[in-house]
Amino acid sequence: MEHVSSSPEETERIASGVAAELRPGDVVTVSGELGSGKTTFVRGACRALGVEGPVTSPTFTVGHRYRGHVDVSHLDLYRFEAVSPAEWGDLEPYFDGAVCFVEWPEAAGAGLPDPRFRVHMGHAGKDRRTISLEPC
Ligand SMILES: Nc1ncnc2c1ncn2[C@@H]1O[C@H](COP(=O)(O)OP(=O)(O)OP(=O)(O)O)[C@@H](O)[C@H]1O
Ligand SMILES: [Mg+2]
Repeated sequence: MEHVSSSPEETERIASGVAAELRPGDVVTVSGELGSGKTTFVRGACRALGVEGPVTSPTFTVGHRYRGHVDVSHLDLYRFEAVSPAEWGDLEPYFDGAVCFVEWPEAAGAGLPDPRFRVHMGHAGKDRRTISLEPC
């Protein structure tokens, strides 16, 4: 399904629609260019899942884990060229018992659990973004 969002708020609203279909154990990959709104999308989904505090991109760690109505994880693999077996050891707990959003999933290659949705975001001028939602 293809959407065009005209604001960060609209992106969050579209994300909340996806969130309604998710349960612990589900993985959602969120890909797209720099600044295309991946973290904004994840924030909207987190809000819909009952996460109340700040939702920001993980920078000093590979991920965040939040508690909402369910547990929610947010991974950002931007820094990874590829994920080594040792690094997988650090990542696996984020998937365990949580809805897990993964920004920059390309680095994880085949090691990533099969996602429930693939989200692709792109710039479409100024505050417009394309959001493609692919159920898997
Ligand atoms: N329609 C829109 N949807 C989402 N973000 C938008 C939109 N219009 C403007 N923005 C702005 O674009 C920026 C998107 O930042 P965000 O961190 O969500 O992107 P990102 O894809 O996660 O970036 P990165 O590649 O650095 O991880 C924010 O400053 C946001 O306010
Ligand atoms: Mg981001």
